[in-house]
Amino acid sequence: MNSPLREGPLKSVPAYVRHARLIAWVGEIAALTEAADVVWCDGTQAEYERLCALLVSQGTLMKLNPELRPNSYLARSAPSDVARVEDRTFICSQRKEDAGPTNHWMTPAEMRALLQTGKADGTPPLFRGAMKGRTMYVVPFSMGPLGSPIAHIGVELTDSPYVALSMRTMTRMGRGALDVLGADGDFVPCVHTVGAPLQPGQKDVSWPCNDTKYIVHYPETREIWSYGSGYGGNALLGKKCFALRIASTMGRHAVAQDGRGWLAEHMLILGVTSPEGKKSHIAAAFPSACGKTNFSMLVPPAGFNGWKVTTIGDDIAWIKPGADGRLYAINPEAGYFGVAPGTNDHTNPNCMASLKRDVVFTNVALTDDGDVWWEGMTDAPPAHLIDWQGRDWTPAIAQLTGAKAAHPNSRVTVAATNNPVLDPEWDNPAGVAIDAFIFGGRRSTTVPLVTEARTWAEGVYMAATMGSETTAAAAGQQGVVRRDPFAMLPFTGYNMADYFQHWLNLGDKLAAEGAKLPRIYCVNWFRKGADGKFVWPGYGENMRVLEWMVGRVEGRASGAENVFGTSPRYEDLRWDGLAFTPEQYASVIGIDRAAWQQELVLHTELFKTLEYHLPAELPATKARIEALLAG
Ligand code: OXD
Ligand code: MN
Repeated sequence: MNSPLREGPLKSVPAYVRHARLIAWVGEIAALTEAADVVWCDGTQAEYERLCALLVSQGTLMKLNPELRPNSYLARSAPSDVARVEDRTFICSQRKEDAGPTNHWMTPAEMRALLQTGKADGTPPLFRGAMKGRTMYVVPFSMGPLGSPIAHIGVELTDSPYVALSMRTMTRMGRGALDVLGADGDFVPCVHTVGAPLQPGQKDVSWPCNDTKYIVHYPETREIWSYGSGYGGNALLGKKCFALRIASTMGRHAVAQDGRGWLAEHMLILGVTSPEGKKSHIAAAFPSACGKTNFSMLVPPAGFNGWKVTTIGDDIAWIKPGADGRLYAINPEAGYFGVAPGTNDHTNPNCMASLKRDVVFTNVALTDDGDVWWEGMTDAPPAHLIDWQGRDWTPAIAQLTGAKAAHPNSRVTVAATNNPVLDPEWDNPAGVAIDAFIFGGRRSTTVPLVTEARTWAEGVYMAATMGSETTAAAAGQQGVVRRDPFAMLPFTGYNMADYFQHWLNLGDKLAAEGAKLPRIYCVNWFRKGADGKFVWPGYGENMRVLEWMVGRVEGRASGAENVFGTSPRYEDLRWDGLAFTPEQYASVIGIDRAAWQQELVLHTELFKTLEYHLPAELPATKARIEALLAG
């Protein structure tokens, strides 16, 4: 095509790109950021290999020993750029109330002045000249199976080849996404810079980034702008920014079109097949670094012969009502960006098998024979390692200084197709019908192992009031309990109270249509004993709880009703192959009234914070629970 659109920075536009609006936008951003060059990613293996070679030559990636870890690399980030930065994450809706009290907010005009257009006092915008001396990659991607009615297209412009490379693993990236987009399809524009322009002759660093960081979402115009970080959810914009924050607003706004809308959730999706061959699908929400990847790849323990768990997704679910009123879920991602520490042949053998080859590891330790290691990978650490910051590490140094060999939020980036228990339906454009939702926090006390909500509204209440101890996945203090409604606190792109209402409305609507709603469960694998150790063995043993849930969905498992709903009695779970006494069970399933009275005070505080638009059904549910607790 001969067109003025394909001149200057756009001379490299491939002939197969037919979308004039996309081409014009790429030109605009290239001009604003003064990128030295523009490269359109096609998603091919050859391109992946070219990017790997480039990143090795720049020192960002180190090739691992091909005998031990074929086609795999190690990246070390800047020590200041190791996690999502929630305090630098903004939802820029026109009205503050629409972002709500759980999000940082600025008006779109103010934020655009800061990032794109410049301030009235002459301060230049952060993105002006931000890509000087760097190549801007155009990364088209589909969140969800190509062409799925539940999927959506995005295009990320990034000056980080590490991000372009990771987006190929984490999404359906490249020409296929552009084919779906056609000449005038809708896409979510995502602009990302590490914020480290290069002056002529300036030597680059292996992990460019900027101390100033902005992770910005404009929900009304569905745009994402990210400045200053090259790490994970700050930079791979298809993940948290698009698939959760922007998608959650898209799902809610869709109510205006179809009367139902859809859900974008921080949930794994798994298939569980019984020895009789009956398959159920479960979606489970847990906060970051609380075991979603482990649960999605669970290996049934001894005593569960014939049971099979298969993975559809490990982090995010897009869920839409089908014509039959059931809720259908897809995994919008195509890869896993999982936390490395703690992963081993006991906690997650299927993940370990996924990591045998074709992996990019970030911020793990390097062994002397060119392989990787992280805390918890083996019982005893190797005698010598190079730690995540490139320094010598030995067990003696660790004992003296407390230094971790791998950063607690070190990650693996690997394609879903490496997973030996990948569900055959994982790429089905229609999605899978969900039978049950699970909500789980990390709580050393108070919350029982498992409870089934009596009604959809009680399930929404449990999810809305969920608390969890914070982890290293986000920068900030760790191990403190914070309310994390639906495990979506850092990811809901609009007012949290409106989000609760959206869940309640969807349940009401589907129930009114006569649909069978998924059951809702609240779980806690993390209760500790007086010795400070976890009582419940977790990991594969969670299968015992999963079997009970499947039995409940099928109407055959029994339990006992308590204040919050129904929980299994000791005799309602299968104990084959595990020595776990009724006393131990009592200590993970018990309800301590005094602790719950305290807990409900925290629910009141949460509801006070979310007072604007808080659905009346939630305080009403709380009042019912309080009455039961007092009775
Ligand atoms: C993630 C997170 O990376 O939740 O999935 O932080
Ligand atoms: Mn996550």
